[in-house]
Amino acid sequence: MKGYIKYVLVGFGLVLLTYLLFKGDQSIQIFNSEGNEIMNRIARLDDFTLMEKQLNYIKNIGYHDLNLDAVYKYCRILYCLEKTGYLTINKNEIISSSNNKRKVLDIGGGLSPIHFIISNIDEIHNVDLSFSGWFPVKDNIYINATNKLKYNKDNINYHISDLLAYIKKIPDNYFDYMVDGCSLIHMIRPGDKENNCQIIMEELTRILKPGGHFFAVCDIANPIGKACHDMIYPNDLVKAFGSGGLKIIKPTNYNDWDNYLKNQNNSVKKHPKHFGKEIDKDYPDLKSIMYAPGEVRNGVYVWIGTFVFIK
Ligand SMILES: C[S@@+](CC[C@H](N)C(=O)[O-])C[C@H]1O[C@@H](n2cnc3c(N)ncnc32)[C@H](O)[C@@H]1O
Repeated sequence: MKGYIKYVLVGFGLVLLTYLLFKGDQSIQIFNSEGNEIMNRIARLDDFTLMEKQLNYIKNIGYHDLNLDAVYKYCRILYCLEKTGYLTINKNEIISSSNNKRKVLDIGGGLSPIHFIISNIDEIHNVDLSFSGWFPVKDNIYINATNKLKYNKDNINYHISDLLAYIKKIPDNYFDYMVDGCSLIHMIRPGDKENNCQIIMEELTRILKPGGHFFAVCDIANPIGKACHDMIYPNDLVKAFGSGGLKIIKPTNYNDWDNYLKNQNNSVKKHPKHFGKEIDKDYPDLKSIMYAPGEVRNGVYVWIGTFVFIK
């Protein structure tokens, strides 16, 4: 019996010690455990560690020497697609979770690798004002892409159009999911006179199937600086994306993002170098983004947020 009490006391002591060790820093608890938080969040130091598989995929197809924030964005979209059960990456192969071909919308997808990747399993509709690409391309493909880039031309539909003009013509409940790699923020203007943001989000919500997901991985304004018309604070962006009726998936802790970002204030000032090609170093992480956000204009610091919604 005495031995039993000893084990109970030791167990209790360990629990108490763990509690005392971690209770001081709530931000670490919230942001370091994947169990607490799945996808909706700002870029995290250990994100590339969690996304090693996705990063290897992007490296394998040769798109890894674009800006680190773009590489992060593409990995993160693949990560969200996997986490929400649309596909699996297995030994650099894309495997669908469905026996049927689904319809996917890439909003302002341009020539990003995402539409090529999805075309291997699903019908992809990529709507953009232009498909000239923001990086050098030949036949729509990044010039440094490798022959490992596999895609199915028959599944790719390029729509050269303004987003709203295009989606207005689409029937209700048409798409199974919608992806946005930092394009919508250039189209929605929360609080503008025409209420364009709400109109676009209502239309996007209308054409998404019930239960379908909408992912946005995009620039946000870091609260240490100002916001501007296309770099807005994460909480405001959640409201904007939700203004047509989409629901942000739970759990989410975006209310804590502002505090988290403010805590990085000193680090940001200590590392003024803009992010570059750190991705090629042995173990890439997000330090170069988190500690050196680009000051794009008039005190607006850029960060990256992930927003996952469901209809
Ligand atoms: C930052 S780029 C992102 C491109 C791509 N998603 C990627 O990740 O590489 C923003 C894209 O949005 C497109 N865009 C901007 N306004 C648009 C509009 N009103 N309708 C459709 N596309 C638009 C631009 O042409 C550009 O390709």
